[in-house]
Amino acid sequence: MGKPKAVITGIGAYYPDYILDNEGLCRMVDTSDEWIMTRVGIKERRILRDKDKGSAYLGARAVEDLLRRTNTSPDEIDLLICATVTPDMHFPANGNIISDMVGIKHAFSFDLNAGCSGFVFGLMTAAQWIENGTCKKVVFVGAEKMSAITDYSDRTTCPLFGDASSAVLLEPTYEDVGIKDHILRTDGIGRSHLYMKAGGSLYPPTIETVINKEHFIYQEGQAVFKHAVSKMADVSVEIMERNDLTSDDVAWLVPHQANLRIIDATARRMGVDNSKVMINIQKYGNTTSATIPLCLYEWEDRLNKGDNIILAAFGAGFTWGAVYMKWGYDKK
Ligand code: UT7
Repeated sequence: MGKPKAVITGIGAYYPDYILDNEGLCRMVDTSDEWIMTRVGIKERRILRDKDKGSAYLGARAVEDLLRRTNTSPDEIDLLICATVTPDMHFPANGNIISDMVGIKHAFSFDLNAGCSGFVFGLMTAAQWIENGTCKKVVFVGAEKMSAITDYSDRTTCPLFGDASSAVLLEPTYEDVGIKDHILRTDGIGRSHLYMKAGGSLYPPTIETVINKEHFIYQEGQAVFKHAVSKMADVSVEIMERNDLTSDDVAWLVPHQANLRIIDATARRMGVDNSKVMINIQKYGNTTSATIPLCLYEWEDRLNKGDNIILAAFGAGFTWGAVYMKWGYDKK
C-alpha cells in the first residue's frame, strides 16, 4: 500500500463581526479609499474589539467550526498546530490554549511562526505527521489578531491588516488527491524590512519601547513589495514546471492576500486567468496566516475533487513558498 499522502478533508473559519472600512480609517489617519483601493485593493477589514479576547479565541472559534462541519469529535484529534505571529502570549503556545478551549485532550499541540507564509509552512509541517503514519487526524489553524500589533496612527501599515482565523483538517489518503509537492524558502535579509522590534528577548518591553511604538508592525513597504512580487511568482512557476502543469491544468491559484498587485503579478507570471484566482483581500485585508484557508473556506462549494490547486505565499522573515495539491472532496 505504501505511504499515505496528506489531504485536506474539511475547513472551518471565524472572523469578528466588527467591520473597519476605508471610510472609518480616513477618520483615523490621512488616507483615502482611492489610495488604499488602487495601491492595495482593500475595502474593509474585520477587527476583534473585545479587550479580553486574543488570537487563541479566534483560533478556537475556527476549530469549533471545523469540528462541527467535519462531524469530528475533539477526542479524535492527534495533533493541533497553530500558525500565528500574534499569539495570546509568548508562552504557553496558542496551540495549547486553543486545544484546551475546544476540548482537544488526547493530542499534542504547538505553534509555528513563518509570518504571512504561516499557512504553507504549517500545512507542510502538519502533513509530515500524516505521511509518516504517526497521526490520523491533524488540525492546522492560522489565527491572527493583527489589530493587536497595528498602530492605528501609522497610515503606512494600518490599512493593511485584519483579524481572522481559519482551520483545516488533514487526514491520510491513498487516493490520487492531497498534497503533491511544495517549495518552501527563507532569507533572513527580510528581518530588517518587516518586523516588530520590541517585546522579545532582544528588546524586552520597557517604558521607552512603548513610548517609541516598538510593539507595532514595522514595514518598509516598497522593499517587501519588491521581494514579494518576484519570489511568490518564482516558486509558483517553478512548482508548475516541475509537476508538468500548464496554466490550463491549474483549477485555482490561492495566493496570500497582502496586495492585489502582488496577486495579479503572480497570476500573470503563471499565465493563470483571473477567473481562477481566489481573491477576498477587499473584505478582510491581510490576515497573515489566515488568508489562504479563508479563501479555501469561501470557495469550498466551488471546489471539485481532483482540482489542481496552487497555494502561494510571501511574508516576514522573509519566508515564501508554494504548495501543489489536488483537492480531496466534493462538498456534500
Ligand atoms: O504580507 C506580508 C508581506 N507584506 C507585503 O507583501 C506588503 C508589500 N508591500 C506593499 O504591499 C506596498 O508597498 C504598500 C501597500 C505597503 C505600500 O504601497 P506602495 O505603492 O509601495 O507605496 P509607498 O510606500 O511607496 O508610498 C507611496 C506614497 C508615499 O508618499 P510620497 O512619499 O510619495 O509622498 C507614502 O507616504 O504613498 C504614501 N502613503 C499613503 N498615502 C495615503 C503611504 N501610505 C498611505 C496611505 N494613504 N495609507
